[in-house]
Amino acid sequence: MTKINGYTARDRAWHPPALTPLYKTSVARSPRFAPLGFATSLSEETGPVFGHDILGPRDNDLIHNFTGESAIGPRIIVQGRVIDEVGRPMPHTLVEVWQANAGGRYRHKKEGYLAPLDPNFGGCGRCITDENGFYEFRTVKPGPYPWPNGADDWRPAHIHFSVFGHSFAQRLISQLYFEGDPMIWQCPIVGTIPTREGIESLVAKLDRQNSVPMDALCYQFDIVLRGRRQTMFENRMEGL
Ligand SMILES: [Fe+2]
Repeated sequence: MTKINGYTARDRAWHPPALTPLYKTSVARSPRFAPLGFATSLSEETGPVFGHDILGPRDNDLIHNFTGESAIGPRIIVQGRVIDEVGRPMPHTLVEVWQANAGGRYRHKKEGYLAPLDPNFGGCGRCITDENGFYEFRTVKPGPYPWPNGADDWRPAHIHFSVFGHSFAQRLISQLYFEGDPMIWQCPIVGTIPTREGIESLVAKLDRQNSVPMDALCYQFDIVLRGRRQTMFENRMEGL
């Protein structure tokens, strides 16, 4: 790590280039001109502020938080810590997740996959890390799904997540994959990540010790904001 005045310099080689034509959407989305800098406004730097009072009792239980009845699919727990580059926990951090159901279908009006909706699964959840940076969700394992990119491309099972710091300007977004899934290595979006180490930073590890017998398998997934062990974020290549 390069240190400048005691701070770790950002590693801009960690993230995929903006233009990666095998991921077709990147062609239209990537900038054609050099970036322009804008000063952030006060509201972008100071808000919004989230507290535990915004959370409902089922916000981190995607199995039940849509209708109260159980969603269909393999029940899992996803847990871990949000930490900085030297392993310090990040307390009071809003972690939001969204995902397809167990059949690989999103509850979204533009969804084009023929797999059925689950009437008891909405696909969204959130929680706030505790004083040790710990977070936890209960959900069903999402299914893989086909998407219109190449002739027959499939997304591996994944959970989208967002980490909110102290303001809008600090929001980070990425995706979590599951250990042992062969589809990870065939995905054109995953394939834009330059290093195997970067890809593996997005793979949650099966954790049998924290699994609940006859209920749910557990996956461990730490979110690292910067440094050599940083999670690969989609919207900000260097983390925070
Ligand atoms: Fe997705």
